[in-house]
Amino acid sequence: MRRVFVTRRLPEAGVRGLLAAPDLVVDIRQRDDAIPRQELLQRIEGCSGVITILSDRVDREFLAAAGDHLRIVANYAVGFDNIDLAACSEAGVAVSNTPDVLTNATADLAMALMLAVSRRFREGQSLAESGSWSGWEPMQLLGRDVSGATLGIIGMGRIGTALAKRAQGFAMNVLYHNRRPNPEAESRMDVRFAELPSLLEQSDFVSLHCPLSEATHHLIGAPELKRMKESAVIINTARGAIIDEQALLEALLQKQIWGAGLDVFEREPEITQGLAHLPNVVMLPHLGSATTEARTAMARLCSEAVLAVLQHKKVAHLLNPEVIS
Ligand code: DGY
Repeated sequence: MRRVFVTRRLPEAGVRGLLAAPDLVVDIRQRDDAIPRQELLQRIEGCSGVITILSDRVDREFLAAAGDHLRIVANYAVGFDNIDLAACSEAGVAVSNTPDVLTNATADLAMALMLAVSRRFREGQSLAESGSWSGWEPMQLLGRDVSGATLGIIGMGRIGTALAKRAQGFAMNVLYHNRRPNPEAESRMDVRFAELPSLLEQSDFVSLHCPLSEATHHLIGAPELKRMKESAVIINTARGAIIDEQALLEALLQKQIWGAGLDVFEREPEITQGLAHLPNVVMLPHLGSATTEARTAMARLCSEAVLAVLQHKKVAHLLNPEVIS
């Protein structure tokens, strides 16, 4: 019997189809914490399919440990910077991801972070909880308007586009930067392409939505932060390492920018020391896609991809379709 290993507990409704497959043994590690590398390498041995999450490194060592039966790695994320795609393709292993189903959840969270930072939720909540709030004051915790402000979106793909739509509902002006201009987005919405330096200089909010790659690692470092307005807020719901976290800490301490909303971190789950104590930083533990709907749909997409590849059927979201031609 062919075996499939799932490295973490996933929403049950999303894996039902996989569990019901008559010709498969599905081994789900019924835990939420990170799987130790050695355990991962042992448990994938001889598997035909593996469902991984974003912190499971899929590299040549992984492929060697799995062996020749491996046909598919279904990554439970839209981002796939944990996967050596070239090595998988060379080994004839298909790789899938989970786009679309988490677009709205992630764009909602980016919008929520923009509001939370600009309206000083963190300081407001502390004051309301402290027992020392003495009542309404005209000058208390003044934030900044989102309406009418300029939002610079870096990475105008699915999530960037969904954020642009939300931002326009808040009467924001939207600029974007992408590897290439996105004429489709420009024809559907009032958004303008800008080169990165110009976007950073003009934006009141900068939100990151590009994938992490060699080209985008530390895309935002000290020089880029210096270009931003002193009143600007940076939002990251993409991947932590797109920002140089130490440079961000320094920019915030020196008040080069006004605040940050961070859902992702450079060395998760570690967070650069000092960041957590800043009042103008709102931090979340990588919750972009964390709704029951999105996470269930992600599990369903992974299950369907595994089943489709093993049954030689068409797969919806393959990152290296050439391997199953
Ligand atoms: C992703 O999908 O890449 C997120 O970071 C987790 O949902």
